[in-house]
Amino acid sequence: MKLLLILATVLCLNTAIAAPALMPLPAHADYPPGELRIDNSFRVVNHGYTDQRLARAIQRFTASLSRQTGIPFIGPASESQLTLECAAPSPAYPALGEDESYKLQISGAGAHLTAPTTTGAMRGLETLLQLAGPGEHGMRFPAVEIDDRPRFPWRGLMLDVSRHWMPLPVVLRNLDAMAAVKLNVFHWHLSDDQGFRVESKLFPKLQRKGSDGLFYTQDEVRLAVEYARDRGIRVIPEFDVPGHTTSWFAAYPELASAPGTYSIERTWGIFKPTIDPSRETTYVFLDSLFGEMAGLFPDPVFHIGGDEVEDTQWKESAAIQQFQKRHALKDSQALHAWFNTRLQEILKRYGKTLMGWDEVLDPGLAPGAIIQSWRGADSLAEAAHKGYRGVLSAGYYLDHLLPASQHYAVDPFDGATATLGPGEAALILGAEACMWDEYTTEETVDSRVWPRMAAIAERFWSPKDVKDVSSMYVRLPAITRLLEFTGIQHRANYLPMLDRLAGWRDASALMTLADSVEALGITGRRDERKYSSPIPLNRLVDAARPESEPMWTLGRAVQAWIATRAPEDAALLNRTFAAWKVNPDQLRVLAKGNAMLDEVLPISDNLAATARIAVEAMSMLQSSRQPSEGWLEASRQSLDRYEKPKAETRLAAVRPVRLLLDAFTRPETSASEANH
Ligand code: ACM
Repeated sequence: MKLLLILATVLCLNTAIAAPALMPLPAHADYPPGELRIDNSFRVVNHGYTDQRLARAIQRFTASLSRQTGIPFIGPASESQLTLECAAPSPAYPALGEDESYKLQISGAGAHLTAPTTTGAMRGLETLLQLAGPGEHGMRFPAVEIDDRPRFPWRGLMLDVSRHWMPLPVVLRNLDAMAAVKLNVFHWHLSDDQGFRVESKLFPKLQRKGSDGLFYTQDEVRLAVEYARDRGIRVIPEFDVPGHTTSWFAAYPELASAPGTYSIERTWGIFKPTIDPSRETTYVFLDSLFGEMAGLFPDPVFHIGGDEVEDTQWKESAAIQQFQKRHALKDSQALHAWFNTRLQEILKRYGKTLMGWDEVLDPGLAPGAIIQSWRGADSLAEAAHKGYRGVLSAGYYLDHLLPASQHYAVDPFDGATATLGPGEAALILGAEACMWDEYTTEETVDSRVWPRMAAIAERFWSPKDVKDVSSMYVRLPAITRLLEFTGIQHRANYLPMLDRLAGWRDASALMTLADSVEALGITGRRDERKYSSPIPLNRLVDAARPESEPMWTLGRAVQAWIATRAPEDAALLNRTFAAWKVNPDQLRVLAKGNAMLDEVLPISDNLAATARIAVEAMSMLQSSRQPSEGWLEASRQSLDRYEKPKAETRLAAVRPVRLLLDAFTRPETSASEANH
């Protein structure tokens, strides 16, 4: 780890980063020379419109800036000022399409933030926080001229709190991180087979029998909604029906399409228990429950899920089949559509717009509904053709633990949506990343969302042509660290998890290994073993990150060295590989009498073997010797083997070593190319 820090430092010195590490990048930004010093006389002066929400935002900004710079703002006020001019209030509750624009001008004379609305001012304050940091003379804001506004009005994060319970502090700290990257929709997936997570006062059995006692009280919900509102973030509740409802039936089996007793589901997948759409009592119940929840969540949009409807119970029920015939509903899909239409009528009476996953896109859906596409952009285009609004989530599934670059490459206007005319294109409101939590706990969720969510937030906010992956990866490490100051624990939980695995002994060797691997996502894990809710998620795979920043940094160091062949850089690389070589010996000591580490030893052996290839390659490259074809081929095959999943992780360390092997067969890259 220390070696990699040194490498990172060397790289930063070599790569003079021209522009500040902002994420999302502003729509327009210039960086003239100059800076505004930040010292303990720094003050915010508000000359424009103000209200309590903006006053609180300014307080938060000042506290964050103080935390981030370590400077207490208690000196006498001086020239070092932020002048704020906000023209008018935003809607009291964040509204779709509200003006979020702002202008920011910083010079040695001061900083000026102007915005037409309070929300715009809040977005600008977040940009300021990302700008603050050390310069040649101390803490400072660099001089900038920024004119910024979002590309999409709907920029969301969905959090599943059913598969694994996510207590209120998880929600609150993620709202803070969302605000930091200008996201404005928090989609709360509140119920599923494994838990009904909100207190109902009308149907208290729901949380009593359907949640293991792990649910949000209504006061907690109100607090979260208010917390989000304060940060210009909407909260969309999702109650997933008619499938994904086993936890409801633990309390009210009479809602199910088949008689019996039900208990909370403990495993993952798609299950048969499904709400009975043929009985009027179902709608009486849903009317009351949704009415109660409609009062708790002020947003005009109400998400009813509707995904993955398993119709076995429907097909096996004589009563439901008769009902289908009576209403001329030709199949389960038509029955589902009928159910949705009923819900849409109920929601309309409560002043709510129905939102659902793309399975709800059926004939009969009334205008105004919002389709959230998880299966691909095709359904979004189809929805737009039919006049419905849409939000893209396909391509933004965080639980797959894909590299940031892969999500970053997905645009809401790729594929079928690319050919929409301007009128239809306006129906694509934006996009949402989804964090499904089968393989995530309150301890690991932040590291599964962040920092990759920041790169996705840039896709949602910044202009379409902001898509330079190298630039994103140059800025992401800085944003990763800055985000920690919002209170999320994506970095903070790493070392304690490794310490626990190491039995409270020095976990350095384990960290060397954890830094060199990446955790597999849902597809890699569900194929490996049968998981269920009581199984602890406390292994190496859970501590490991979805994407290894140290291995990315090492890759860049390798590329830089290949271009320059500077001996001091070679020495640094060799020290890293030397640490890998001794890793198995160190880990074997730690693993003695510690079954938690049994599964990591073979990975450590592969890391050491990877290092041996790296050292040989370095030695040949340093002395301009060419390896034999056989050696090159055998080494490549070995790396492929070492990279194969083990203990649900992938050895990311092979990637920088592949770059070394490539240097034997590729023309030399220039130093500047190597830095990108
Ligand atoms: C989903 O992923 N089933 C919405």
